[in-house]
Amino acid sequence: MIRTHNCGELTAKNFSEKVTLCGWVASRRDHGDIVFVDLRDKHGITQIVFDPEKNKSTHQEAHHLRNEYCVKVSGTVSPRPEGTINEKITTGEVEIEIDEIEVLSESETPPFEIKDELKVSEEVRLKYRYLDLRRAPMQKKLRVKHDVYKYITNFLYKEEFISVETPILTKATPEGARDYIVPSRIQQGSFYALPQSPQIFKQLLMVSGVEKYFQIVRCFRDEDLRADRQPEFTQLDMEMSFVEQEDVLAVCERLFKGLFEEVLDTKVQIPFPRMDYEEAITRYGSDKPDTRFDLFLQDMTEDVSGCEFKIFNSVASSGGKIMAIAAPGYAAISRKDIDGLTAFVGEYGAKGLAYFKVEEDGLTSPITKFFTPGILESFKKKTGAKTGDMIFMVADSKDVACEATGALRLKIGREKNLIDESKFNFLWVVNFPLFKFNKEEQRWASEHHPFTSFQDEDIEFLDNGEFEKIRSKSYDLVLNGSEIGSGSIRIHKKDIQQKIFDALGLTKDEYESKFGFLLDAFQYGPPPHGGVAFGLDRLVTLFTRDSSIREVIPFPKTQRGICPLTNAPSAIDEDQLRDLGIKLRKKKEESSS
Ligand code: AMO
Ligand code: AMP
Repeated sequence: MIRTHNCGELTAKNFSEKVTLCGWVASRRDHGDIVFVDLRDKHGITQIVFDPEKNKSTHQEAHHLRNEYCVKVSGTVSPRPEGTINEKITTGEVEIEIDEIEVLSESETPPFEIKDELKVSEEVRLKYRYLDLRRAPMQKKLRVKHDVYKYITNFLYKEEFISVETPILTKATPEGARDYIVPSRIQQGSFYALPQSPQIFKQLLMVSGVEKYFQIVRCFRDEDLRADRQPEFTQLDMEMSFVEQEDVLAVCERLFKGLFEEVLDTKVQIPFPRMDYEEAITRYGSDKPDTRFDLFLQDMTEDVSGCEFKIFNSVASSGGKIMAIAAPGYAAISRKDIDGLTAFVGEYGAKGLAYFKVEEDGLTSPITKFFTPGILESFKKKTGAKTGDMIFMVADSKDVACEATGALRLKIGREKNLIDESKFNFLWVVNFPLFKFNKEEQRWASEHHPFTSFQDEDIEFLDNGEFEKIRSKSYDLVLNGSEIGSGSIRIHKKDIQQKIFDALGLTKDEYESKFGFLLDAFQYGPPPHGGVAFGLDRLVTLFTRDSSIREVIPFPKTQRGICPLTNAPSAIDEDQLRDLGIKLRKKKEESSS
């Protein structure tokens, strides 16, 4: 190496040693004749000193140094003068008196200063991501992710899992998003799909007798992006043969216990608590409940029966739900705030938001007149509301009423600081339904994916078409209200898999062309198997306490799916299109003009 030490390790123990350091100029300060430079590398910062009394030529050069020049310096480790010791950094007692300097490369003035606290737009940070990553907090995030991957890999090797690669250029694997498509040059007119997950291949590996598979693997999903979603992201993907649900959950719990101890120095209790999907939806209004605070939804549907408020009555009689929540200390909010909250629940499909102020002598609301004193009393009692609180209610289909009230629950929790941010609350959500009904397309869809098995006693509902009653053998792992993983015991029998495809409305031709290879494989002694996949970027975001997944992905895409650094996605030239046999349709605006 061309250096003897890094910029974060020299201390009083090294006084008088001759050393060579390499790094970037973090700052230069001219104090009269003497020039001080903070030299930075990923390990830290070391102060270097150019003193004209001691070395004239290096001192001359020091004046030419600019921020972010990459330099190599040699000199002697010396004590800092009294009163100038910096106790905040490990190298705070030393400075290096320089007698040789070599500029390894110069730097333009960077678009932003390389420092811990930065106030520039994310767009600019992403355009110059290589400089953004030079900052210590970003280096730390890269490191956390590395430590997570390293721990997982070692743990799974010890548990006798083996890492196997699966193809990236492949056929669609359905996980509920759109596919990214890659045109084939050699087979013109045909396309590969990038995998939404290695789901089918890991199941094939079980047929191959691999028994315990894992892979830290990139997955691709063309879906609307959010703070916790990227078009390409990394899963820890696992699959095991001859297991039941309990075996899968147990190995995951051991993994997370060790991981949290090793990387975060945090103890977590195992086994993790479990909650039925139904309870998650009706008490928390979410299939990924944040259990760090106790504020619960209440079902008021039965309580309001016979009331005179038309909206509630018609929702209740048509099979919908009236869900309520008591917002602590919200009685005093303004009309404008209520309108804001009504618009907020509207984003989740709620058509309105009823509210009742809890005052000393009862509930007040524009609609109290429609309810008997007995009903009003039950609102207060059931929600546990106290004077000064506000009871909010949404009446709608069960899905909308629960989801909208659940979103309101989280908003209240954040606004009122009810969430203990120091906690790591794990939760398994279990007993999901196997199917959900897609209203727009008027057909049944898989709640997870079509390869998920169902609870043995529910087979009768598959046979008699009562699909809504079938519970799956699937499980989600939720951490602080974020879904970090999902898995299931799989179907391993060809005829059952075919029945599921039938239930999903796929014709034989359709499922043969999409998944025939899996059904073929199931003719050759497939073992019972199950597995899980964790979203590692999401997990690391929780470790680093960032609010966006983009913070822990070295080169992420923006919310609009663009990489500001490379400008991907971009047009390709005519020759390339011709090679691929592709002719572009005119864009909408062009073709209509
Ligand atoms: P699922 O689709 O639930 O399951 O994905 C597993 C986990 O991956 C993470 N995740 C994402 N992270 C970032 N950006 C995204 N766009 C994104 N989409 C998903 C989530 C999620 O819990 N094959 C099945 C697993 C199995 O059954 O074994 C699967 O992919 O944390
Ligand atoms: P309206 O009669 O439409 O003026 O509504 C009276 C009150 O009921 C208002 O506070 C509305 O926000 C509320 N409201 C309307 N529809 C619903 C609904 N589906 N769920 C809960 N409250 C509603």
